[in-house]
Amino acid sequence: MAILSPSILAADYVNLERDIRKTGEAGARWLHVDIMDGHFVPNLSFGYSMVKAIRPITDMVLDVHLMIDCPIRYVEEFCKAGADYLTVHVEADTPENIHAALDKIAAMGVRPGVVVKPRTPAEAVLPFLDKCDLVLVMTVEPGFGGQKFMADMMPKLRTLREMIDERRPGCHLEVDGGVDTVTGEICKENGADVLVAGSAFYKAADKPAFVRQIEG
Ligand code: DX5
Ligand code: ZN
Repeated sequence: MAILSPSILAADYVNLERDIRKTGEAGARWLHVDIMDGHFVPNLSFGYSMVKAIRPITDMVLDVHLMIDCPIRYVEEFCKAGADYLTVHVEADTPENIHAALDKIAAMGVRPGVVVKPRTPAEAVLPFLDKCDLVLVMTVEPGFGGQKFMADMMPKLRTLREMIDERRPGCHLEVDGGVDTVTGEICKENGADVLVAGSAFYKAADKPAFVRQIEG
């Protein structure tokens, strides 16, 4: 069974508490929080204060996606703020610093993970896989919601599913970008077990049905 992780990037920021409550009431168990620094990606979103503000109003698993350069600088703050899963991009720093970031996350009792951009191959995950509880495959170029799903990421997804089953069973395999009920099916067929959806979820008139369709 798959897990839906709705991305609040597509929520109504003025009514964020209302939207987060609706998300939980719709049956979602995870909540995806996109952190962008205007440098690693050409867009700005929120910082760790947002995670800290959300933490007391929900029991949903906070799945925090760091789209920031040199993430090691901030992982401690995001862990303290209440992230449950914290993912860093393999492209965002040297391998040594990515290892150090993952170690720091785990030492703080938070589940670490890595993310790969569309042009980064599956093999780039391998050096970090033993430390990961979550691997995230971008199915759009990171930075903006509402983009078109890249179906050509499916071979990479299948490769990562095989790597995880062989070397790190129990690690989640997540997809992010352009996911709706149709593309979500394709992702599940290709091995994803956690699906992020921003625009499609927050636009859906019947959110409980959306959760059931993705998770069923
Ligand atoms: C994009 C973000 C995504 C975004 C997905 O860089 O990482 O999490 O919110 O939005 P949709 O589902 O609209 O493509
Ligand atoms: Zn994301």
